[in-house]
Amino acid sequence: MTNERPALTAPGSRPRRYLMCEPSAYTVAYEINPWMDASRATDTARAVAQWRVLRDTYLTLGHTVELIEPIKGLPDMVYAANGALVVDGLVYSAKFRYPERQPEGPAYQKWFADHGFVTHTAAEINEGEGDILVVGDVILGGTGFRTERSAHAELARLTGREVVSLELVDPHFYHLDTALSVLSDDAAEPQIAYYPPAFAADSRAELERRYPDALIATARDAEVLGLNVVSDGYNIIVAPDAVDLADAVRARGFHPIPVDTSELLKGGGGAKCCTLEIRGAAVRS
Ligand code: ARG
Repeated sequence: MTNERPALTAPGSRPRRYLMCEPSAYTVAYEINPWMDASRATDTARAVAQWRVLRDTYLTLGHTVELIEPIKGLPDMVYAANGALVVDGLVYSAKFRYPERQPEGPAYQKWFADHGFVTHTAAEINEGEGDILVVGDVILGGTGFRTERSAHAELARLTGREVVSLELVDPHFYHLDTALSVLSDDAAEPQIAYYPPAFAADSRAELERRYPDALIATARDAEVLGLNVVSDGYNIIVAPDAVDLADAVRARGFHPIPVDTSELLKGGGGAKCCTLEIRGAAVRS
């Protein structure tokens, strides 16, 4: 944390409600992305300590953090962003590509059902907010490695929103939230950052057309999974090694807050992967 003035008074920020899962069951037991190396030791206590700093940072900023119980044998459950997509109080369940993570979908869906949300069981393969990002009125959907394009169509039907499909081409950036950051989801003035080489040419062209003022991330940022940020519209939680991105967002008037999630990077995730945003209220609580 920096010791600057409490940032929630800043224009642009909006209190958020997040769902997180403590990494007490975290390890790298299988390899489903190029960051994962099951032969390399992981330190669960260190992962938990880093995760707690992330959680406490949200709390200090005035955000609400809900918790889902970790389940033994599901080491990737800490990456809550993948658990669902929640928009307008509507929950679109995750349907994971790899068998190792498949039980996480129903576990997260149950959490939402238990908390009064209307949940929709996805028919199509999708990995929640890992690949589905809400930018103002529009939803950006990643595809190429995990989420099927057909899930974007399913989500468009479900939400009535436009879903723009973006194709990922580099396995290091296997989820959209590893290659693209939502800096501001203000519908009037959405702002994003992205790493162009992670996208197919036509998707790059689409991003250039829609977001001519987007911040273009450097290879240095991308290589530390630096795009995996969490923004409340003003405060941006960013990996300490993503130095170019931190400078660039600061220059645009945002407030970068470095939080070390290096232990969780061994599984291929950063701050954003650990954070599922709950948008809109449940029908009953
Ligand atoms: N080990 C996890 C996987 O490969 C990491 C998920 C990271 N989450 C994210 N939102 N990018 O599925």
